[in-house]
Amino acid sequence: MLILDEKKIRKGRPLGLPYQGSKKKISKKIIEIIKQNFGTDKMIYDVFGGGGAITAECLLSGLNVHYNDLDKDATDMFAKVISEDRNYIKSLLVSREEFLTIRDKDDKTVDDNLKLLVNSFGNKSKDYLYGKEHADIKYRLAIEIIRKHDTFSGYKQTDTWLNQYRELGQLQQLGQLQQLGRLQQLGQLEQLGQLEQLHITNLDYRAFSEVEGAIFYLDPPYENTTHIGYKGCFDSIDFYDWAFEMSKKNKVLISSYEISDDRFKCVYEFKTARSTMQGGIGGKCEKLFMVK
Ligand SMILES: C[S@@+](CC[C@H](N)C(=O)[O-])C[C@H]1O[C@@H](n2cnc3c(N)ncnc32)[C@H](O)[C@@H]1O
Repeated sequence: MLILDEKKIRKGRPLGLPYQGSKKKISKKIIEIIKQNFGTDKMIYDVFGGGGAITAECLLSGLNVHYNDLDKDATDMFAKVISEDRNYIKSLLVSREEFLTIRDKDDKTVDDNLKLLVNSFGNKSKDYLYGKEHADIKYRLAIEIIRKHDTFSGYKQTDTWLNQYRELGQLQQLGQLQQLGRLQQLGQLEQLGQLEQLHITNLDYRAFSEVEGAIFYLDPPYENTTHIGYKGCFDSIDFYDWAFEMSKKNKVLISSYEISDDRFKCVYEFKTARSTMQGGIGGKCEKLFMVK
């Protein structure tokens, strides 16, 4: 089993896009496990990087990281958010009407994808965050709070919110502002001045077959699930063969709930991280696996 001295885990919120299947809940622990067991001098390949939770944590720890995902939309969104300022984040707030127009566009820009992500229910880029009944009033309120108070996370202390809240008791929270607040936190990565060391690619995982002496963190679409947002099927058996080969010349860690291939063993179990995905795998623990 791998060790983790929990006292060394970074304090503060995890970073990353609100991406389906994101490792945000355990990203701080994963990076600490990597550091404590494999050191800090090797390049880390975040090959199925998705919303960048692991890559962000590597950057915060000063580790060299290669961020890859077949889905260019995901890496483009991450790269855009870390390179833009607060005014850009504000511009991502859209009304229900604008959301529906963007959703129906054939060719979506990075900005479009980000708008759909942060203004959608469950970050699924499909339905607007609020039902039709409250959509306009909540959107207008968020716009007003930004204009008058320039705050994302502190909106519940503003008189604009408190006045509305008294009038319309059913307004419990402004999810859009919370989303923007979390995105804005990604901006701190740029201030680290480390971004020129960040390599980003959009390759199939097999493109890394020649790499040696590195750490591979692999978070592929889970066995027996269709990864939401990724339009394709993923052959887990081929992937395990590849990961097995890569383990001969690299440290290879795989994130999963279970692995059916008995060449791999569980090396760490995240006792508190539960799946929130629907479809029958809820309740299982996230684990890390390595070759036996
Ligand atoms: C479980 S998600 C990873 C989530 C990520 N660790 C995070 O924290 O956001 C799996 C990712 O694998 C990507 N993917 C699927 N097939 C791939 C392939 N053949 N090569 C590289 N990436 C692939 C998907 O686009 C998806 O983003």
